[in-house]
Amino acid sequence: MPKTVRTWVEISESALRHNLRATQALFGAGTLITPVIKANAYGHGMLQVAHSLKNTPIWGLSVAYGSEALTLRQAGIRRKILVLSYWEPSELRLLIEQDIDVVVYDFTTLNQIRRIEERIAKQAMIHLKLDTGTSRIGFLPSDITRLKQTLKHRAHNVRGIFSHLANAEEYPTRRTISQLAHFDLMVHRLAIKAPYVHLSCTAASWRYPTSRRDLVRLGLGLYGLWPSAAIRTWSQQHRPKYQLRPVMEWKSMLAQVKTIPAGTGIGYGSTVRLKKATTIGVVPVGYADGYDRSLSNKAWVMIDGQPAPVLGRICMNMFMIDLSRGRHPKVGQPITLLGPGISAHELAEMATTISYEIVSRISPDIPRRRL
Ligand SMILES: Cc1ncc(COP(=O)(O)O)c(C=O)c1O
Repeated sequence: MPKTVRTWVEISESALRHNLRATQALFGAGTLITPVIKANAYGHGMLQVAHSLKNTPIWGLSVAYGSEALTLRQAGIRRKILVLSYWEPSELRLLIEQDIDVVVYDFTTLNQIRRIEERIAKQAMIHLKLDTGTSRIGFLPSDITRLKQTLKHRAHNVRGIFSHLANAEEYPTRRTISQLAHFDLMVHRLAIKAPYVHLSCTAASWRYPTSRRDLVRLGLGLYGLWPSAAIRTWSQQHRPKYQLRPVMEWKSMLAQVKTIPAGTGIGYGSTVRLKKATTIGVVPVGYADGYDRSLSNKAWVMIDGQPAPVLGRICMNMFMIDLSRGRHPKVGQPITLLGPGISAHELAEMATTISYEIVSRISPDIPRRRL
């Protein structure tokens, strides 16, 4: 990797391992964790995170797609891997051959698995996904009788039964409690002994300890972020000792520094017109990199420990900042787009979205550096 790059993402391996250890201590023995490293590990770098988790006592890794699982295997990751959301039928043979656990969410996917198993004379490790009210993929309650019958006629290697909660990040709790009850009923009706029953994401695992079961699918919390303000407040009140450390810092540098005369407009649409002569910096990052256009005239970056506000609209590949408060800013000087002084939560609030989106949309083309 060249020494100077226009932008890069730093990943703190010690923060990542701290978050995992702290969460394992919170859960205690008996509940395993599967770090969710889909979507380029929520923007942190899927391979970097997988390598950083080497030799940690986890169940295995979880991803959304078959292609992500195959990329992990190709990179030499030998741990258990679970595909949570979707695989292409054309990937299935390879997934089974490579000992990757796969989601089964309807009778079509179950049949596709059966056909490949017969062809290659090898059993797949399947996790049955139940739709308990999120209305994403999954068997519905009305499918359970037929599913039970189908599985009875032909023993499948059912390694897991799982579901996903729709409201774990929010108050009130009524809907989640009802969804947990639906899950228990569906599992009871299925009457299949699977080694791993799982339905807990980060928020559920903190807020509803009974939802942890055998395995928690830990996504955002692993990266040191809070799923919502409500969960953050709840957790700080109820578990003040459980502290997470943000794993990511997103950096860039100043491509140009110059003083612009009063009255000049800044950027497309000239949404800012300078009242006085102002020193500005041009940052070679834009919305094509995942620095959202909705941050125009709202966000700030950190330079020399000081905030420098975004001036004007974010362009596709650049944006401008106000350096009038900085001390002798220089071309090439590093700046922080996300990190101490400007968190993913603050950016999410300004962009009226969630921190999940802020981090996961940072372009995978940007280098990730493990520190
Ligand atoms: C099926 C499933 N399980 C677990 C997770 C992890 O959720 P979180 O990042 O809130 O822990 C996700 C993420 O969206 C998911 O889709």
